[in-house]
Amino acid sequence: MKPPILHAKNIVKCYGKFRAVSDVSLSVQPNTIHSVIGPNGAGKTTLFHSLTGTVPLTSGSVLLDGREIGALADYQRVQLGMARSFQVTSLFPTLTVRENLRIAAQGVQPGQALHFWSKALLQDAHEDVILAVARRVELDHLLDRTSAQLSHGQQRRLEVGMALAARPTIIFLDEPTSGMGINDIGGMKNIVRSLRDELTVVLIEHNMDIVMDISDTITVMHLGKVLSEGQPNEVKADPAVRQAYLGNMITGGG
Ligand SMILES: Nc1ncnc2c1ncn2[C@@H]1O[C@H](COP(=O)(O)OP(=O)(O)OP(=O)(O)O)[C@@H](O)[C@H]1O
Ligand SMILES: [Mg+2]
Repeated sequence: MKPPILHAKNIVKCYGKFRAVSDVSLSVQPNTIHSVIGPNGAGKTTLFHSLTGTVPLTSGSVLLDGREIGALADYQRVQLGMARSFQVTSLFPTLTVRENLRIAAQGVQPGQALHFWSKALLQDAHEDVILAVARRVELDHLLDRTSAQLSHGQQRRLEVGMALAARPTIIFLDEPTSGMGINDIGGMKNIVRSLRDELTVVLIEHNMDIVMDISDTITVMHLGKVLSEGQPNEVKADPAVRQAYLGNMITGGG
């Protein structure tokens, strides 16, 4: 086995007295799709926030290619090859697809103040990256639309594109299919699967058809901890997982 691209050790994230993530360790192999699943509130998004620097760690260690990054700011982690998309839309609605991608290509994080980026400054840089990413997420015919004009499925693809535009070696995708109709889900699944050839994908996803189909490894979280980990067939067969999560899904719960 190759050395892991990401090795997180004993990650703890507390909000006040509440431990949202409690002593989670995670090893992600390069050029794999590593999914994180678990019931609502299990701590999946908080784990992503902690690994990507959206929130500071309470304690623990994050090694990217063997280098400790757990104390770095999110934009510094982006510069080292770590990019993410968000569970909730984080696009700039009045900007075009091209402008959104250009901002991401320049390493500006969603949510950061836009005002000091004049449009002139954003004009020509990174055009090749923008085009390649737009093709990748099948938005190259919509480069001049504002993101507010896109369908929901197209917006979700643009969010993946925003993460890709930072040219990461490892990408964290938080429920890229959330709210998508059945027609858009298959396309997103193919896009995510295709990324494995060039980079490493860490994926939060509630759609079990996708997770079981495209994951190399699955980590199951429950109550802020790792409940189980393995290949899809191993996780599916784990009685603890069936009880805490999958059984519940099969009988129609959340
Ligand atoms: N900023 C915050 N302050 C306090 N508690 C928080 C905060 N963010 C998340 N939590 C709590 O941490 C726990 C884990 O939340 P998190 O969003 O990580 O879960 P999740 O597994 O991503 O769930 P979902 O599948 O619904 O997206 C929940 O109980 C949530 O209410
Ligand atoms: Mg979440």
